[in-house]
Amino acid sequence: MLFHVDPALNFTFPPFPTELRFGCGLSSEIGAMARELGSSRVLLVTDAGIVKAGVARRLTEPLETAGLQVLLFDEVMQDSSSDMIMRAAALAKERGVDLIVGLGGGSALDSAKAIAAMATNPGSILDWVGLDRVPLDPLPCICVPTAAGTGSEVSVWSVLTDDATGAKASVGGTRVMARIALCDPELTVSLPPAVTAATGMDALGHAVECYVNKACQPVSGALALQAIALIGRHLRRAVADGTSLEARSGMLMAAVLAGIAMNPTRLGLAHALAMPLGSWNLKIPHGTIIAITLPEVMAFNCSAAPDRYAAVAAALGEDTAGLEPEAAARKAVDAVRSLKADTGIPEGLSACGFTPEWSERVVEEAMKSGNVAVNPRATSPADLTAILQKAM
Ligand SMILES: [Fe+2]
Repeated sequence: MLFHVDPALNFTFPPFPTELRFGCGLSSEIGAMARELGSSRVLLVTDAGIVKAGVARRLTEPLETAGLQVLLFDEVMQDSSSDMIMRAAALAKERGVDLIVGLGGGSALDSAKAIAAMATNPGSILDWVGLDRVPLDPLPCICVPTAAGTGSEVSVWSVLTDDATGAKASVGGTRVMARIALCDPELTVSLPPAVTAATGMDALGHAVECYVNKACQPVSGALALQAIALIGRHLRRAVADGTSLEARSGMLMAAVLAGIAMNPTRLGLAHALAMPLGSWNLKIPHGTIIAITLPEVMAFNCSAAPDRYAAVAAALGEDTAGLEPEAAARKAVDAVRSLKADTGIPEGLSACGFTPEWSERVVEEAMKSGNVAVNPRATSPADLTAILQKAM
């Protein structure tokens, strides 16, 4: 069961400007896609590791064969710095670039989308923090994920780090979305097991936090529930045997579905905590934060939305037949705890450099997040502090 069909139901699903191209081997067709967009000069935004691993060649060769000039920008680091975005946008303007291609994990794709926006917009990327604030249309951007997690290739948000304060910030809206999401599971095969696990748990966090939250509606709910089922079926195998294209395809599909689902809903407490926990000197990787905090957040929330959590449990393959909703909901928490353990995620945040002195500052920042307002259970600072303690 997804949602009761209530005659009073009234909801909106916003415009989705991104063309989704999904399939093994499809990255070899990027030259034709760039040509369709009228491009002749491309800025390829990625990180040095992707270049070193030989993955960037999977795009540069077909782009060059199609007659495009390719300028490589491989300075993306974890959590996208605002100065780096502005430097790359200046380079794009100076060199007459007419298409941005992002290749990599969430940081590379978030950077590419922000660079595409700042290649045409005035000021600094930090002037446009928030939703729907970017005033002018961006350069077209093709996002090519090498990880199944953030869903940045289809999402409305670009997350970056404000270099002046070290805090994370988000710029969002249809002008920050990719024109094409080019999803080729073959490009995710070389992702190491630990990154596969953390990014996969991030996708699970998107799907679960979207599905149970107060803003969820039937379109997001259907996509999110399917994403949860795919992750339940494929994440362990993708971690244990990265060469399995079936598992990689299942995970990439899940990340994409969850990414589309969450665009109009926002998320929940795990993602509210993730912004400060990924900021300042903490800089804990986003997927790891979500993997560790998600089961604690679910345990806190499940009494507030037992039917939804019961559906999450069933989607994850748990047998909920004959159980009361509350008991079925608790099975969802247990299922996510086992998935976390089976995929080798660190036990708690203390293994990632988090110490109790950070709690007050993290909770204060997290409470400002729009993700708190849509969380299914009303949340106080003391509640968030308790969740952090359990996630230590
Ligand atoms: Fe996330």
